[in-house]
Amino acid sequence: MKQPHQIQPAEGKLGVLLPGFGAVATTFIAGVESIRRGLAEPFGSLTQMNTIRLGKRTDEMTPLIKDFVPLVGLEDLVFGAWDPICDDGYESALKAGVLQKDSHLDPIRDFLSSIQPMKASFSTDYVKKLDGPHKKSGNKREQAEELRQDIRRFKEENGCDRLVMIWCGSTEIFLRPGPTHETLESFEKAMDEDDESIAPSMLYAYAAIMEGVPYANGAPNLSADIPVLEQLAIERGVPISGKDFKTGQTLMKTILAPGFKTRMLGLSGWFSTNILGNRDGEVLDDPESFKTKEESKLSVLEQILQPNMYPELYGDMYHKVRINYYPPRGDNKEGWDNIDIFGWLGYPMQIKIDFLCRDSILAAPIVLDLALFLDLAMRSGLSGIQEWLSFYFKSPQTAPGLYPEHDIFIQHWKLKNTLRWLMKEDMLTHLGVEYYD
Ligand SMILES: NC(=O)c1ccc[n+]([C@@H]2O[C@H](COP(=O)([O-])OP(=O)(O)OC[C@H]3O[C@@H](n4cnc5c(N)ncnc54)[C@H](O)[C@@H]3O)[C@@H](O)[C@H]2O)c1
Repeated sequence: MKQPHQIQPAEGKLGVLLPGFGAVATTFIAGVESIRRGLAEPFGSLTQMNTIRLGKRTDEMTPLIKDFVPLVGLEDLVFGAWDPICDDGYESALKAGVLQKDSHLDPIRDFLSSIQPMKASFSTDYVKKLDGPHKKSGNKREQAEELRQDIRRFKEENGCDRLVMIWCGSTEIFLRPGPTHETLESFEKAMDEDDESIAPSMLYAYAAIMEGVPYANGAPNLSADIPVLEQLAIERGVPISGKDFKTGQTLMKTILAPGFKTRMLGLSGWFSTNILGNRDGEVLDDPESFKTKEESKLSVLEQILQPNMYPELYGDMYHKVRINYYPPRGDNKEGWDNIDIFGWLGYPMQIKIDFLCRDSILAAPIVLDLALFLDLAMRSGLSGIQEWLSFYFKSPQTAPGLYPEHDIFIQHWKLKNTLRWLMKEDMLTHLGVEYYD
């Protein structure tokens, strides 16, 4: 990838388009509006709160990321969404039950109610546990064309200079990449023929890329993670990234597992189970959607611990992930981890984690950062897979043949070094010998 000569300024409005207007999407937009009105702080967001060190430690140059790279300001964001359920932003946020009605939703009710979702490209063939009346008809190709029109209309009606799209829709059933996902010709033919290998999330990704709109996938389903769309993104000069927002239990896994490995501590088993009662939990109660999620969650430990390289430490590890739909909990998930590790002379030890987690609270700042960073990538002339955004995903999308990097600390370093690279600053190696000359 070439270093950009010049980054276009972040002028004008950025439209953030969200397929899926449920818990994560409404928590995200309600949060941004509350921050804009001075009612909240952007906790959890790197673009808003994190600093970046430039030069040597003794140079004492650590600006905020948002002061270092040209990012669009929160005041310039406008939001659009699609959902088969036609609740406006206020009704949907109330049902999601993440944010408190009195303290967080009612003060911005006018704003939330003003956002009505557009008709979704949706089919219960791909998400079995929910349905709604607010959806497009016609074959898949016609629906993709309608999505493209929605995008253009939204841009014009809202006076946007640029757009980004972030999939916040439900997890679709497990699909493997196949022949229809190889070339534009086979993909478009499959859309014309309503082929079952083309899921709705692929139609949104296709529409976004065709319209020159950067795309990120917050769920584990394939969506843009197929050869045809990766290639199309490069040809059209559009950045893409995915998959599956890294929150909750997997976030903890990618924080802890690198620690065990750096100390050469062995792992014999990691058992993870969750209860959650939101709409996402209900969708994941379907075995076919759960399979998509499971694949995404399981790959993390394998890659971080590299059992092939360390068979004595990780060759026999048993890794199990369960998600249980339990309605009384709503969005307040509880995740238990039992971790069996071993050390010197093979003596076993156990670690127990009980994470009383709020998934959408962890996911919302990820949506914000992805929107701002993808817009930065677009203005910098980057296209195709943006590996530097791996930090935000459970299953980072990578070039074919390249294994993904899951270690959150490496991902964080990679993200910040990419920002330094974009701004033509020296990259950080943490070598440190220069201080001892
Ligand atoms: N909450 C988290 O922390 C988290 C973490 C990682 C991934 N995710 C994923 O993000 C997605 C959203 O999570 P959520 O908690 O907001 O779920 P949610 O069920 O509250 O919202 C998803 C919304 O997507 C809509 N939808 C489904 N298919 C659609 C389509 N084809 N077009 C438009 N809308 C569609 C549904 O009607 C629903 O309103 C899920 O796939 C979830 O697995 C969430």
